[in-house]
Amino acid sequence: MRKYLVIGNPIEHSLSPLIHNYWMKKHSITNSVYEKKKVEKKDLRDIVNQVRSGEIRGVNITVPFKKEIIPLLDEVKGDAQQTQSVNTLCRVNNEVYGYNTDTEGFKKSLNDSLSSNNLIDRINKNIFIIGAGGVTPSILKAFVGTANKIYITNRTKEKASEIKKLGDMSIALLGRKRSIIEVVDWGEKPEICDVVINTTSVGLKKNENLDMDFKDYENNKNTLFYDVIYNPKETNFLKKARFRGNKVMNGKMMFLWQAQIAFQMWTGVSAEVDEDVIKLLDND
Ligand SMILES: NC(=O)c1ccc[n+]([C@@H]2O[C@H](COP(=O)([O-])OP(=O)(O)OC[C@H]3O[C@@H](n4cnc5c(N)ncnc54)[C@H](OP(=O)(O)O)[C@@H]3O)[C@@H](O)[C@H]2O)c1
Repeated sequence: MRKYLVIGNPIEHSLSPLIHNYWMKKHSITNSVYEKKKVEKKDLRDIVNQVRSGEIRGVNITVPFKKEIIPLLDEVKGDAQQTQSVNTLCRVNNEVYGYNTDTEGFKKSLNDSLSSNNLIDRINKNIFIIGAGGVTPSILKAFVGTANKIYITNRTKEKASEIKKLGDMSIALLGRKRSIIEVVDWGEKPEICDVVINTTSVGLKKNENLDMDFKDYENNKNTLFYDVIYNPKETNFLKKARFRGNKVMNGKMMFLWQAQIAFQMWTGVSAEVDEDVIKLLDND
């Protein structure tokens, strides 16, 4: 049996097995199973060794181990290097490589034709990122090459400053001269932006509210309010934006695309992100 895993702590909420097992069945990838496993930090080395030996074919990593796994890997590739966030492990030439598919998944969600009227390009836009947790560097990375200005704020300001440093390094690697990232005090708001993204976990519980007032975006049809949370489907952050007349998008398409990219890396199969797979998440 070919074994694939998503590891994290907590892990009960993960919908990755639902999606990956659906694609495996659909593409007749037999003798394979994708499971979720709650792990502790001390278990990470053993998991990586099992990937190295081929006992486990592929692993997704979620909260809180995306950074902690890095010292155990043989190589860290692409976006994972610049975000210091690994969400996918692959075995390559008997070694374990770490990748980040969240950034690409997020980018694809913005360009997704299935998201119809929510389309927005990333060129020359002003971006406001709220939060500085594990997922935030992946979101920031999606904009460093194209944005005009990126504002970032977090309850714990030092974490926003750390993520700015990662973003500045990516910008330098791209050869962009100007620093376009600015840390904003928690509770302060920058100029009106084209995209406002909640990357905090506030909203995971139904009645939770981000303590931030966006009244100045009233009737602004151009700004996209994006919440990386996809369960619940509509956080208060998005509900208020919809009532104000702003564009809205939740994290569902990002989640599906990051999974699709990992699935292709492991199996070589380009699985569909279509209405059927979207329905799986909606029904859960
Ligand atoms: N759509 C997708 O594919 C996808 C992928 C990954 C993650 N996510 C979602 O993204 C969210 C964040 O994940 P993560 O891994 O980045 O989590 P994390 O590392 O635990 O970070 C949590 C973030 O939320 C902030 N926060 C928590 N409670 C707060 C409060 N009461 N007031 C203000 N800020 C608060 C934290 O601020 P402090 O630093 O001050 O604590 C931090 O910025 C989760 O809901 C997760 O489900 C979605």
